[in-house]
Parts: sequence; structure tokens; C-alpha cells
Amino acid sequence: MNGPGKLLITADEVRAAVARVAANIRQAFAGRELSVVCVLDGALLFTADLVRQLDLPLRIETVSARSYRGADTTGGDLVVHAEGLSRLAGRHVLIVDDILDTGRTLVRLREAISAVRPASLASAVLLDKPGRRAVDIRADFVGIEIPDLFVVGYGMDHDGRWRNLQNIFALDEPPAG
Ligand code: IMP
Ligand code: MG
Repeated sequence: MNGPGKLLITADEVRAAVARVAANIRQAFAGRELSVVCVLDGALLFTADLVRQLDLPLRIETVSARSYRGADTTGGDLVVHAEGLSRLAGRHVLIVDDILDTGRTLVRLREAISAVRPASLASAVLLDKPGRRAVDIRADFVGIEIPDLFVVGYGMDHDGRWRNLQNIFALDEPPAG
């Protein structure tokens, strides 16, 4: 399928990255039962592929997060489903997101989940843009580090489009704002 901008990561490279991350998670959590928290909407595809490679007992939960680059990217608009949060008490929690950018979403999610006292709290992202970090945070499991580019495909969107692409593309112009 054609996409916008330039091809950055092929579907094969995505598959290899997911397999690597899954292997590391399997090793780290062997013998434990996980709660995988999918950060909607971007992490839908990554989570779906990842959990099918985790040979562990697990439950899947979802949270919605909205955080975008721009003047109002304060992370204050992160929406967390409180009902699901309480289910994470005492559990080994793995937050799964598509991409780690400024880091604000992950920081806010970690705060919200820590408040319900999980047994442990870790995070996995398919892509990491370390050059864009605004807060000091890293993910425990990272698929692929990329430069400061705005990417779409494999769950990631621009204005709601392109999530269904198998390859990941970098837009020629980063979205304004
Ligand atoms: P952060 O709070 O800045 O780390 O933002 C992370 C969230 O912003 C991700 O979960 C994505 O939903 C979105 N995001 C950041 N960079 C990109 C990108 O290059 N393409 C699509 N979405 C992105
Ligand atoms: Mg997201």
C-alpha cells in the first residue's frame, strides 16, 4: 500500500522489531502474569501483534491518551479510564505505546497507574524519538530508535489517517503546531 512522504521502516523491519521486543518481554516477565495496557489509538496494531508473541498469562486493558506536539502539548489532556485503572492494583503492568516522543504521555500514564499500586510497572514502545524528549523518561523495551520525524502507519496517524499502512512512512513536512 502506498503511503505519504518517504518510506522509513518496512513491514518486515516492523515484524523483526516486534519479535525482538516480545522476546525481551517474555524473558523479563517469565513466570509472572501481566496486565498489558494498550494506549489507544496508536498502539492498537503494535499491541495486537505483540501479545500474540507473548507466551505468558496476560490480560489486556486499554487507556485513551491524547497528546500532540504544539503549544498546548502539556499532557494535561490525557484521558485515562478510571474503571480500568483499579484493575491494575497488585498486577505486573506493561504499558504499550506506539511511539515515545516528548515523553509526557508516558510520564502521566505512569503517574496515574502508580497511584493504584501495581506490583511492577514497565513500558514498551515500538518507536522512540529520543531527540524529541521534553521530560526525563525512557521506555524499558524499545523497538526502533528514529530521528525527529513525524511518522504514520502501523497504527500511527496524521489527522486520523494512515493507521492501516503496513510500512511506516515519514511525512515530508511535520504537522504544524
Ligand atoms: P509524547 O507524549 O509526546 O511522548 O507523545 C506520544 C504520543 O504522541 C504517541 O502515543 C503518539 O500518539 C503521538 N505521536 C508522537 N509522535 C508521533 C508521530 O511521529 N506520528 C504519529 N503520532 C505521534
Ligand atoms: Mg498515542
